[in-house]
Amino acid sequence: MPKILILNDSVYGSAFDLGDRITEVLADKGHSITREKAPTDDTLRQSEFDAVLAITSTTGSGDLPENLTQFWLQCQETFPVITGKPYGVIALGDSSYPEFCGSADKLDTLFQELAGTRVSEPCRIDALETPDPSEPALEWLQEWLALSGL
Ligand SMILES: Cc1cc2nc3c(=O)[nH]c(=O)nc-3n(C[C@H](O)[C@H](O)[C@H](O)COP(=O)(O)O)c2cc1C
Repeated sequence: MPKILILNDSVYGSAFDLGDRITEVLADKGHSITREKAPTDDTLRQSEFDAVLAITSTTGSGDLPENLTQFWLQCQETFPVITGKPYGVIALGDSSYPEFCGSADKLDTLFQELAGTRVSEPCRIDALETPDPSEPALEWLQEWLALSGL
């Protein structure tokens, strides 16, 4: 049974709601899920997982929410490699901000630096166009699972 590590952070709760939904869907498919809302660099070293999926919103000027910002800073310092493991990023944002879904770019770059396997483009969801983020996210998820061989 493939093990998926979900890193999930939010400011106002939408990305947590989406994390709930995705966890439910993956569990129904028989995947084993570990979900962390306040991960550290050690989460990548100590958790057993076959793939990592980040689900986050965007805040500030294209920034990650607080807990994932701390995680990102720690990873830049200690470099917990995830060699060859598939990773995916789902980001909520709003295209009225100049740095649309900048959080996705930050995590995409980080996971590449940590030697993860980039199986697909991050899923960037625009709150201006998509009132229910679960629809595009679940569509993206099916493709990501297939490309990751999960
Ligand atoms: C103060 C603030 C700053 C934001 N900055 C950005 C941004 O730089 N880029 C972006 O794409 N969206 C930005 N957003 C939009 C949020 O990412 C979007 O509304 C998202 O759906 C919020 O999800 P959450 O409820 O999980 O926090 C910002 C929203 C707020 C309130």
